Amino acid sequence: MKRLNLVVLASGGGTNLQAIIDNIEAGKLSARIRAVISNNSKSGALERARKHNIPAIHLSHKQFATPEDFDQKLLSILKEKETDMVVLAGYMKMLSPRVIREYKNKIINIHPALLPSFGGKGMYGLHVHEAVIGAGVKVTGVTVHIVDEVYDHGPILYQKCVPVSSDDTPESLQKKVLPHEHEVYSKVIQLFAEGKIEIKDNRAFIKE
Ligand code: GAR
Repeated sequence: MKRLNLVVLASGGGTNLQAIIDNIEAGKLSARIRAVISNNSKSGALERARKHNIPAIHLSHKQFATPEDFDQKLLSILKEKETDMVVLAGYMKMLSPRVIREYKNKIINIHPALLPSFGGKGMYGLHVHEAVIGAGVKVTGVTVHIVDEVYDHGPILYQKCVPVSSDDTPESLQKKVLPHEHEVYSKVIQLFAEGKIEIKDNRAFIKE
């Protein structure tokens, strides 16, 4: 089976990255992480990458004169790493249309709610769970989707429901949802490695 070359982009603690690393090391995921890129030099994600001898790259728009220069650098890294798939794991920056077009249907994102609800600008991390609690919904969950040019949008690959209890807080919900993210993200990447994902007319299907 093909081993997918992954480049993971992350801004925060990197627990989703860690789950992917652990699943690869346990032989459950046919992939290798060619690099971890973060806009945040102090991110836990970069630290986790270094611990596992994965190239850890701090790449921020602040290092470049123009957004085009940033894109040029990012694209040259992705090319050099022979990237099959770009994995956004808590990456808080929007990728440009140019990058998204060059890697069409090859960039995936995980979101800690059931899209298209509770997504869009400003909807990241704890804010998502605050909105879920505020709306009083009884189920939330995890969505993995292909990234297109609209924030938190693009063909949905996989969703999993998580019940919301009456005593949940945004923090407790975040804690409850996170382990499901860890499980689901590797599962979806493995389906790609097995060639089981088909994208047609803006919808994604899992081939039997
Ligand atoms: C995760 O919950 C991920 O779903 C979320 O950020 C967190 C990152 O955690 N992403 C978004 O909200 C994207 N809109 P991690 O750094 O521990 O993986």
